[in-house]
Amino acid sequence: MSVCSSSSSSSSGGYLGSAKAWIVHGIVAGITIGAAIGARAYLGRSRKFRSRVVGIIPARFASSRFQGKPLVEILGKPMIQRTWERAKMATTLDCVVVATDDAKIAQCCKGFGADFVMTSESCRNGTERCNEALQKLEKKYDIVVNIQGDEPLIEPEIIDGIVKALQAAPDAVFSTAVTSLKPEDAFDPNRVKCVVDNHGYAIYFSRGLIPFNKSGKVNLQYPYLLHLGIQSFDSKFLSIYPELQSTPLQLEEDLEQLKVLEHGYKMKVIKVDHEAHGVDVPGDVEKIESFMNDRNLS
Ligand SMILES: *[C@@H]1O[C@H](CO)[C@@H](O)[C@H](O)[C@H]1NC(C)=O
Ligand SMILES: *[C@@H]1O[C@H](CO)[C@@H](O)[C@H](O)[C@H]1NC(C)=O
Repeated sequence: MSVCSSSSSSSSGGYLGSAKAWIVHGIVAGITIGAAIGARAYLGRSRKFRSRVVGIIPARFASSRFQGKPLVEILGKPMIQRTWERAKMATTLDCVVVATDDAKIAQCCKGFGADFVMTSESCRNGTERCNEALQKLEKKYDIVVNIQGDEPLIEPEIIDGIVKALQAAPDAVFSTAVTSLKPEDAFDPNRVKCVVDNHGYAIYFSRGLIPFNKSGKVNLQYPYLLHLGIQSFDSKFLSIYPELQSTPLQLEEDLEQLKVLEHGYKMKVIKVDHEAHGVDVPGDVEKIESFMNDRNLS
């Protein structure tokens, strides 16, 4: 199996033009500068800091809410292929692989030319699957991006953004992205909120509204942050992450990422413009298709 034997990634072509659009205003403007200075100091010592990057798309067949989800067609193309095509446009990834436990998904990947790795059915979550896939790759990587297969419209710029953020923050082991929270999602426990410090490191994630205004209502003036599922890891950290003990806040909120913070690791957060179009249940397919039709996306 020659998975990712080519080290060149496809270039992002026409996407570069729009790259500026998503980057970070407000909270993050100061942070970007701070991070850049830090990175330069670090790179003075080592030019190659965390330079080898792999994108892994975990794709399992079984799902309680949506059996065979990665193979569902969205405007005539399997969802897993759409996610992979987006990921291939990211310029920071040396290689993109699908990690699956299922022969039909593997067959599908072969059909459109994606590299894939077979992982065991016993992986309990996407992070474990990424870790197992990483161990099976021929080459070594410094950063692993966990690209969720249920966000087929993920912008390559977001992938590049979290990779660069992690490369620029040597004290962080994890990076992820947030976007503006819509007021109507404020009290939806499935929309995870995040607060960050002045340097763009995560302070906390919650299913409840944070920060909480004493009026008990949403403050329409406040720039609340919605967490997006995409994340990247330092690969050494990824190998210990699933083994780290569960923690009280993680268990109470049922949020994996809290385990990272509770164990004292740092997590870098970037702010992006992104409208989430996750496909979680069969009914979401129609929604995303009509969104794509409206925007003339094919
Ligand atoms: C709470 O929200 C209101 C608007 O709803 C805002 O005027 C106020 O500054 C916020 N903060 C505090 C501490 O009340
Ligand atoms: C994945 O599942 C394992 C076992 O349930 C758990 O220990 C771990 O915290 C989960 N999440 C991550 C991100 O590894």
